[in-house]
Amino acid sequence: MRALVLSRYGGPECTALADVPQPSPRAGELLVGVHAAGLNPVDYKTRAGGLRIIHRYSLPVVMGNELSGIVEAVGAGVMRFAKGDRVFARVDKNTMGTFADYAVVHEDHAALMPASLDFLSAAAVPLAALTALQALRDELHLSAGQRVFIPGGAGGVGTFAIQIAKQLGAHVATTASPRGEALVKRLGADVVIDYLRERFEDKLSGYDCAFDLLGGETLARLWSVLRRGGRVVSIAGIPEPMTARKDLGRGSGLAALFWVASLTTRQRAARHGVSYRYLFMHPSGADLAYLASLIEAQKLEVVIDRVFPFTEAKEAIAYLETGHAKGKVVLAMR
Ligand SMILES: NC(=O)c1ccc[n+]([C@@H]2O[C@H](COP(=O)([O-])OP(=O)(O)OC[C@H]3O[C@@H](n4cnc5c(N)ncnc54)[C@H](OP(=O)(O)O)[C@@H]3O)[C@@H](O)[C@H]2O)c1
Repeated sequence: MRALVLSRYGGPECTALADVPQPSPRAGELLVGVHAAGLNPVDYKTRAGGLRIIHRYSLPVVMGNELSGIVEAVGAGVMRFAKGDRVFARVDKNTMGTFADYAVVHEDHAALMPASLDFLSAAAVPLAALTALQALRDELHLSAGQRVFIPGGAGGVGTFAIQIAKQLGAHVATTASPRGEALVKRLGADVVIDYLRERFEDKLSGYDCAFDLLGGETLARLWSVLRRGGRVVSIAGIPEPMTARKDLGRGSGLAALFWVASLTTRQRAARHGVSYRYLFMHPSGADLAYLASLIEAQKLEVVIDRVFPFTEAKEAIAYLETGHAKGKVVLAMR
């Protein structure tokens, strides 16, 4: 089968389209004929080797983290899916493999596609929407009437996060350039700050929580936006000890490393009386089924920036890597 293969860590030249053996589903797994695959920053971060401390792939490896497609076969013991089902999934982080004609997915990570979506839109959902849901609902415990700041609302995660926060009844402030302003307003943002012209900390204060999608300088300036007792969850800043234990199931070695790396960030948070957590999302078929129900009820819209044919997978990753996508970038596999 055709696949985009990573043969060593580095730039785009380290990936190539290649013919590789088709995978076989093991117990509990589905073999999915991939119709579309969503792209995410984790794809180019993985290619560059930036996540080696967390996931050690044995190279060469087929890239790609999420898919939509049709179940072609099931492994022993699969209970919830059958050949012919239209499914979508964020696949196991330790295997990847969705930039290919066929991929295997554990049944616990898959859900039936919303009937109202085509394969391209369905492939855009899993990783970004699961991240937004798990951050806002499970980590920030966002509830009706609360105020949340979501810097960077126009991208893959942000377009889902704004909508999910509104679903939870929150007031949402976000940042976007003029290129993304109309989009984030349409998705429900109550306050939009043009980050090219204004500093958000001059405009916002007393917020209950923030969901940081940008890290770096944005995270460093975020604290004064929050009230004392407020909460920050970042998916782009510095991992902290709980990231190692709760999200990665790792021991004290990695937790200690993250403790050191996040010291300045945690000290800043403490000075402002705010809690800080770095989240790694996890695959979840149950959460994905919930997101599918929101989509079916027309409460969650999928925003696609661009679709590339599979033969242009490298160009698609390079496009996402410019950092200016509005919504999601997707590969059409068939
Ligand atoms: N920890 C996890 O589990 C997890 C999961 C998913 C994603 N992530 C991380 O979360 C981050 C966001 O992911 P994504 O998929 O949303 O990325 P993305 O789709 O590439 O985000 C692009 C968007 O970010 C906006 N942007 C860039 N700089 C900005 C700034 N300074 N202020 C406001 N907006 C800005 C861009 O708007 P303009 O074009 O208008 O500048 C663009 O619309 C990435 O670092 C990704 O690796 C982590």
